[in-house]
Amino acid sequence: MANSNLAKAKSAKNDEFYTQYQDIEKEIMAYLEFNPNTFEGKTVLLPCDDPEWSNFTKFFAQNFERLKLKKLISTSYAPDSKSLKINYQPTLFETTNPQFDEKKTIVNGKIFTLDHDTSGDGKIDVSDLEWTYLKGDGDFKSEEIKKLRDEADIIITNPPFSLFRDFLAWIMEANKQFVLIGSMNAITYKDVFTLLKEDKMWLGNGFKSGNAFFSSPISNDYADGVFDKETGLVKFRNCCWFTSLDHGKRHQPMALMSYADNLKFSKHKEIKENGYQEYDNYNAIEVSFTDAIPSDYDGIMGVPISFLDKYSPEQFEIVGSDTDIKDGKLPELIKPNWNGKIDRGYVKGKRIYSRILIRHKK
Ligand SMILES: C[S@@+](CC[C@H](N)C(=O)[O-])C[C@H]1O[C@@H](n2cnc3c(N)ncnc32)[C@H](O)[C@@H]1O
Repeated sequence: MANSNLAKAKSAKNDEFYTQYQDIEKEIMAYLEFNPNTFEGKTVLLPCDDPEWSNFTKFFAQNFERLKLKKLISTSYAPDSKSLKINYQPTLFETTNPQFDEKKTIVNGKIFTLDHDTSGDGKIDVSDLEWTYLKGDGDFKSEEIKKLRDEADIIITNPPFSLFRDFLAWIMEANKQFVLIGSMNAITYKDVFTLLKEDKMWLGNGFKSGNAFFSSPISNDYADGVFDKETGLVKFRNCCWFTSLDHGKRHQPMALMSYADNLKFSKHKEIKENGYQEYDNYNAIEVSFTDAIPSDYDGIMGVPISFLDKYSPEQFEIVGSDTDIKDGKLPELIKPNWNGKIDRGYVKGKRIYSRILIRHKK
């Protein structure tokens, strides 16, 4: 199971998953298509990166002029500080550079910057990147990287899975724009869900067919049919982009059938056979499939978290989640005669998966 790879990554403390160039390109192009000036005059920071060979650094440096960037800053985390201990070898690029330092290469992070043409070829691109060692190890929580965060307009990276919430909080406390890769499971975390509900953050354009492929120095530990020997990549089904940058997909309303038509024509036999079930404990109906949301139902509907990938704020309002109900934030949604648990929605006594509660916008 591809999803279990996230759990595996956590338990093995492996944060070393590297994003593919085409995934970064596809995502960033979606923002640019929506607004060609999204990155104009902006300073972009790529923390938690490995700039010598990161595809984030490569993409943004190579497209510096097309994106009309003001400055690109990219930082790495010291090999000695990484939780995954692998046999680290500095690259030839570094060892042949006069500033190469045997000790610093292990205990310090690096910083790469790009803001002008250093090679004299008349354009600003990857060949103009300048680098030096950081004073510290490149920990995003350090004062050194915080300063870079404060200088930046937009922060873009695939942060360590194990630190996603801390990383997002670190961005929000500085009120910066961002594009991040994270696990879909993060949607159910209170702090993350609040941002989604308040429309301060949404899901990005997305990985091709919902599959994210990453390279990892220990890729072949992931052998459950998801490690591709030919490409050396590991597949995650459960990753998505979280962002505060606008893009076109989230303004496209879903095409939906009416309540009556779903009962007749839904491709889900559960809907055709049983119709829509009311929760035992909530004043809402259970809609187990995003594509079965009835277009003309006025009340509140419980939908799977994967709904957010199709969510358009013009089409739907997010009312809350199971956790909100449990926390007493939506008392009006609890059925007055209910005296059982309110940890989740229940249908005919059966506990339903985590749900987002939504309602059509009029
Ligand atoms: C999921 S990888 C992504 C790397 C790169 N951004 C990419 O997408 O190809 C996350 C990286 O963050 C680094 N990292 C882990 N903890 C960190 C911390 N506290 N501060 C900065 N970087 C950290 C890891 O060593 C790893 O290289």
